[in-house]
Amino acid sequence: MAVLTVSDLVVELITPRGVIRAVDGVSFDIDAGETVTIIGESGSGKSTTAMALLRLLPDDLAVISGSAQIDGQDVVGTRKHIGGIRGRSVALIPQDPMTALNPIATIGQQMVEAIRHAHGSLSKAQARERALELLRQVHLSAPERRVKSYPHELSGGMLQRVLIAMALSTEPRLIVADEPTSALDVTVQAGILDLLLEMQERTGVAVLLITHDLGVARLMSDRIHVMHRGRFVEDGDVEQVVDNPQHEYTRNLLAAIPELGAWDDPEDPDHPDYIDPVAETAAPATDPAAEPAAPTTRPEQAGIPATKGGPRP
Ligand SMILES: Nc1ncnc2c1ncn2[C@@H]1O[C@H](COP(=O)(O)OP(=O)(O)OP(=O)(O)O)[C@@H](O)[C@H]1O
Ligand SMILES: [Mg+2]
Repeated sequence: MAVLTVSDLVVELITPRGVIRAVDGVSFDIDAGETVTIIGESGSGKSTTAMALLRLLPDDLAVISGSAQIDGQDVVGTRKHIGGIRGRSVALIPQDPMTALNPIATIGQQMVEAIRHAHGSLSKAQARERALELLRQVHLSAPERRVKSYPHELSGGMLQRVLIAMALSTEPRLIVADEPTSALDVTVQAGILDLLLEMQERTGVAVLLITHDLGVARLMSDRIHVMHRGRFVEDGDVEQVVDNPQHEYTRNLLAAIPELGAWDDPEDPDHPDYIDPVAETAAPATDPAAEPAAPTTRPEQAGIPATKGGPRP
């Protein structure tokens, strides 16, 4: 059975400028162990989709229709179930780890609180023990010391590991990760994505991933939905969407990926646009007035790493 099923979800936001249909009839589902990614430019409705499913949008500002079930429980027709699901069978990994934690409580205090929220029967001491175990699982260095730290004493990457540990503490069936690595620099990003893949392999959790980064989508996803103005304009397996995009919007998204030196280096002799400087001096180009050819960028040159389960760069 799918962990998340969404059918014809519509979200209308009531704003001072009128009603905005931020999500306009999207349908998708996610099975255990799968990562499904929603990708799209800023303002396309990705976060609104996620926030609506978690019922984190206030009722007087957002009107939700359609249907969605998390673990078989209706979360659109009623608010009755979501309170019991959130922080238990579904966990959120936020975009900005710096602001997601309470600045005046230690990491340990916040983890113990989250763990006891999910597992009411655990004593404080047992919850503390579990917190340490989780911090070890997310490869946080010196966890005994970190539990006594306040959020500002940890780096962004460390905090995101803490938040992943907190998300896992509830043994969720579904993790919603909205731009989980966007606030982190690239080297830290890779470590966090690796950790998410490792956790998924171990626990079989379903992941709804939101990103505007096709490289991240390609690495992490089983399936991708490309969102544009509240609708899915393209759906499919990673290879299909990234390597053979059908929709103009997806092709533009692919073209918008910045070229990274190591992956698209015209000074690399293997690069198709490589010009041998020695040969060039000996025999100059035929027609100096000719238009230079438009640069072409294939996904594998554009810094997009391997797919989920495939070889990693
Ligand atoms: N609180 C709000 N008030 C008014 N409009 C909003 C509000 N939140 C979102 N919107 C509008 O809803 C649409 C979808 O926004 P949403 O935040 O879901 O986009 P997104 O795809 O998550 O973008 P980003 O990549 O920037 O996070 C946008 O047109 C946005 O302007
Ligand atoms: Mg967003």
